[in-house]
Amino acid sequence: MNHKISIQDLIGRYRSGYSLEQDFYTNQEVFDAEFEHIWKTQWIYAGNACAIPKAGDYFLYRILKEDIILIRDNNGEIHAHYNSCTHRGSALCHEQKGHAAKLVCPYHQWVFDKDGTLLNARMMPEDFCREDFNLRSVQVNVTGGLIFICLADNPPDFTPIHDALGPYLQPFLLNNARVAAQKNYTLICNWKLVAENFRECYHCGGAHPEYCNAVIGANLREDTSTLTAAKAAGWKEKGLATTLVEVEGDHTSYAVRYPLRPGVESYSIDGKRVSIPMGKHTDYDAGVVGLVNYPNMWVDAVSDYVWIMRVTPVSPYVTELEFYWLVDEKAVEGKDYHLDKLTEFWEVTGDQDGQLCENNYRGIQTSGYQPGPYAPVEDQVVNFVDWYVRKLQAGLQP
Ligand code: FES
Ligand SMILES: [Fe+2]
Repeated sequence: MNHKISIQDLIGRYRSGYSLEQDFYTNQEVFDAEFEHIWKTQWIYAGNACAIPKAGDYFLYRILKEDIILIRDNNGEIHAHYNSCTHRGSALCHEQKGHAAKLVCPYHQWVFDKDGTLLNARMMPEDFCREDFNLRSVQVNVTGGLIFICLADNPPDFTPIHDALGPYLQPFLLNNARVAAQKNYTLICNWKLVAENFRECYHCGGAHPEYCNAVIGANLREDTSTLTAAKAAGWKEKGLATTLVEVEGDHTSYAVRYPLRPGVESYSIDGKRVSIPMGKHTDYDAGVVGLVNYPNMWVDAVSDYVWIMRVTPVSPYVTELEFYWLVDEKAVEGKDYHLDKLTEFWEVTGDQDGQLCENNYRGIQTSGYQPGPYAPVEDQVVNFVDWYVRKLQAGLQP
């Protein structure tokens, strides 16, 4: 599977509207190139600001070899540093999540402030210039409580992401939300298959009975236009964002609001509410907010909780998913929400999707695989694959 290939030739043969050639999903060279030209150049969703509420709270996000510390400083600002000491490179933090008043290297105890400033390097010579050895930081931006990092020295403008996601996220007040649950999945598949799977509902009718019970039209057999128009008018009146945002050109965000099935209050197996309304919401009538940011963030939010999926590539054939369930900061476990009820819907649906992705990958690896045509209802998958090929091609340009 790691035979020599020409990525340029692969791209040249790409036909929009058809799935990618096998090498795009299996070849190490392609994987390395997309890491260089996509994952290291785009804004990547790293996690949630509410997970590190206090100064010194931190968590790590590892994308392949890049290990990043996300830490909050005394002014409330969030910083992103490489988890690598400027002395001889040791990792500073080992725990996935923690609290540190200062970052002290476990190797020779150099001490860094939360903003990356080197505070103390013991036993170094008189003329040692501390300022030259601050931690190497990466760019970070927070919008609506979601933290994004960019590993490029000159990251793309963050404004379009902020403008697209901000209005939809704002009413949830995620900066102060509670991460009620978090779950990690490792899938045997290429990361792009997860992205493709989560950009279409062609599979929903067959694979997701629970999801189709909650979302009218997800089975692609029900006409939802009248209901959607009526609902949208009500949402607008309440000041909730309804403007559809599509991924175009260099932009990476998609945003939409659509209705739940009449009588359904939340993303739950029985359709009933699972927590108190979040943030500024006062009822269970906000529909579903669907947000995507290429290449790695998917959000599905209902009035009472926000579900987020972070996608991280590990190798051409291994992908890690992190699911987060966020509820209102005032919600009390056991009283306002029960963990099993809160997480059930996306655990069931996520398991179904995980199986679909692994199954997809299994078939793609056979010699019998060749690119197949996307259906018209898979237009958003085409949107993703086109974007991916465009970015890869632009990156490979001399
Ligand atoms: S490697 Fe960090 S203090 Fe030596
Ligand atoms: Fe699905």
